[in-house]
Amino acid sequence: MNRNYLQTLVYAIPKAELHVHIEGTLEPGLIFRLAGCNNVKMKYTSIEELHSAYRFSNLQEFLDIYYQGAGVLLQEEDFYDLTMAYLKKCREENIVHTEIFFDPQTHTHRGVSLKTVVNGIQLALNQAQQKWQITSRLIPNFLRHLSEEDAIACFQQLLEFREYFAGFGLDSSEVGHPPAKFERLFKRIRKEGFRTVAHAGEEGPAQNVWDSIHLLGVSRIDHGVRSVDDPELLNELARLQIPLTVCPLSNLKLKVVNGLKDHPLKKLLDHKVLATVNSDDPAYFGGYLSQNLIEIAEALDLTKEEIIQLAKNSFTASFLDEADKQKWITELNKF
Ligand code: HPA
Ligand code: ZN
Repeated sequence: MNRNYLQTLVYAIPKAELHVHIEGTLEPGLIFRLAGCNNVKMKYTSIEELHSAYRFSNLQEFLDIYYQGAGVLLQEEDFYDLTMAYLKKCREENIVHTEIFFDPQTHTHRGVSLKTVVNGIQLALNQAQQKWQITSRLIPNFLRHLSEEDAIACFQQLLEFREYFAGFGLDSSEVGHPPAKFERLFKRIRKEGFRTVAHAGEEGPAQNVWDSIHLLGVSRIDHGVRSVDDPELLNELARLQIPLTVCPLSNLKLKVVNGLKDHPLKKLLDHKVLATVNSDDPAYFGGYLSQNLIEIAEALDLTKEEIIQLAKNSFTASFLDEADKQKWITELNKF
């Protein structure tokens, strides 16, 4: 496909994003502005210097910088500005629905209240729905490098805001913190009637995908790219249509793959796995959702049909109700 045509197509089609950490949309310019306003001392003296630190050899090196960046978010307005900046990108790119992660413990452990975080994000989400008809869901993620007890205590506090949440997830360091560590937490969450998701099979093995399904009862897997190491797992994901929220530029920048040409997305689609494309932490990985679609489509030589299929998958795999899913799939059939 010619590059101009590919770009036009990708920007034109309605899309849903299902894997984006709002703290990962914090651009260097906003980090410096908020650091100034909030009197937060930064290790880096300029936007250029900070940006040049965005070279990672693994997930942990990224996480260390990402948590530092999030340290400038203190006031409700900071969370509002952060979220609104991302929603403006959604509007520019025709992302009509977005399911946003945030890390409550990253903020409460710095003394920022859940009310500050949730109200700031929620105000921006409401305005984007009013002004631009962008629909959204909010999904708190627990940090797997912290204890299960800490996550359970945090979940208890989050219940005060339960009407804002579509489900709960698990992120941060995968290696050394397997799904089994959070079995009791996920049982609690499901007992309260929520859906669950979990990062798995990013740096960790395919077994973590199995365990997230069987031990945690998740309805969606974030990343899940290591599933291609296990043919039986691929069959199971395809049979149950358990979605994977794949993030190509994230996988490239965190050295989960050596190059985009080695990325397993095409293999997942060929196996009829319900794979979707997402941006993860776009301010750190060099591209929002459309850029992820364009670069992976070019690297893997995806067809127009496959790109439309990915967009359809993004709605099928979403937590929208069936009528809304059908509405967007019907729109996509017009392309
Ligand atoms: N993996 C795990 N934790 C994260 C990620 C990720 O890709 N992004 C933000 N937190
Ligand atoms: Zn992620």
